[in-house]
Amino acid sequence: MPRMKLSFIAYFAVTAVMAIGASASLVTFIFGDSLTEVGNNNHFQYSLARSDYPFYGIDYEGGQATGRFTNGRTIGDILSAKLGISSPPPYLSLSPNDDAILQGVSYASGGAGILNDTGLYFIQRLSFDDQINYFNKTREVIIAKLGEEAANKFCNKALYFIGLGSNDYVNNFLQPFLADGQQYTHDEFLELLLSTLDQQLTRLYKLGARKIVFHGLGPLGCIPSQRVKSKQGQCLHRVNEWVLVFNARVQKLLASLNQRLPTAGFAFADTYQAVLDLIDNPTNYGFKVSNTSCCNVDTSVGGLCLPNSKLCKNRHEYVFWDAFHPSDAANAILADKLFSSLFSDSPSIAPTPTGR
Ligand SMILES: *[C@@H]1O[C@H](CO)[C@@H](O)[C@H](O)[C@H]1NC(C)=O
Ligand SMILES: *[C@@H]1O[C@H](CO)[C@@H](O)[C@H](O)[C@H]1NC(C)=O
Ligand SMILES: *[C@@H]1O[C@H](CO)[C@@H](O)[C@H](O)[C@H]1NC(C)=O
Repeated sequence: MPRMKLSFIAYFAVTAVMAIGASASLVTFIFGDSLTEVGNNNHFQYSLARSDYPFYGIDYEGGQATGRFTNGRTIGDILSAKLGISSPPPYLSLSPNDDAILQGVSYASGGAGILNDTGLYFIQRLSFDDQINYFNKTREVIIAKLGEEAANKFCNKALYFIGLGSNDYVNNFLQPFLADGQQYTHDEFLELLLSTLDQQLTRLYKLGARKIVFHGLGPLGCIPSQRVKSKQGQCLHRVNEWVLVFNARVQKLLASLNQRLPTAGFAFADTYQAVLDLIDNPTNYGFKVSNTSCCNVDTSVGGLCLPNSKLCKNRHEYVFWDAFHPSDAANAILADKLFSSLFSDSPSIAPTPTGR
């Protein structure tokens, strides 16, 4: 059985690549948080989860802040470039009937989580439920443009990338002043996350999504904003343990969705080890520092770089740009690894096991 699922995943990866070869017809829809956001939150007047000011984007083309939470490109930008397509634009930058939606849309929003109340203190952001609601609207516009049958085919053929869950920990469960961290044990919190995610992914399926890649969480216990909570700046092992349990449970969920839902192709993209290796062995990849951020902001809420922050001299020597987000240089390495696991025959994609 696992083999069957793997070949299904390989099949959709290969067809995706073939589609690019034939024409630039690969369409991607992105759901995520600040690790993938490309500017939705710029459209919110009151959002505190924003990065539309210096020094964000200092190494992006033009050197301007765009709403990306890094000094340069996100992993999604780099993957899109490798696929030969342009990075999908932020949903909130498009007019409702824009033909651009036929080339893919990003709903990603900094501060977002699986749960609605994650990132509450950012005031405005698109939770995963909000993002799916907007995709539902997008789909209705696609139906109006193409007709129901062609629109269904269109949605079935598109690729869906989802990267959510980090904020449910960093900006919810791990914040001592928020209810979820006090109200629930980790086991209870995990059940809440997983049952919510189950409903959300099922809803996406009902809206026509079939080829869906869910990005697992990285070692959150090692990001600068968590390390500062330890005595000597070391990784928080308890947090990493929780993340590993979350990742394992998500893989089980995806396998179960693949069994329950006909022609569903949920895949898990595991970046935990790749990120941990960057952190543990930075010099192997040309980095010098992985235990603190280039922009020195370790303790602020959300760990964001501020206009008056002091930057490091050599940004490419740092794995982390701010206390939460990898640098452009780190994203380039992670995107390379992800691309070869998703779009080649190498089975390192961590196929969703079908057992229980
Ligand atoms: C979360 O919020 C959305 C609308 O913003 C709503 O549709 C959904 O039902 C909410 N989910 C929960 C679990 O309350
Ligand atoms: C999509 O939105 C319509 C209303 O516009 C609603 O009736 C339908 O239930 C939604 N579908 C899903 C799967 O959320
Ligand atoms: C990072 O590691 C270096 C050397 O291993 C150490 O000197 C420095 O204090 C550490 N920084 C933090 C913030 O933990």
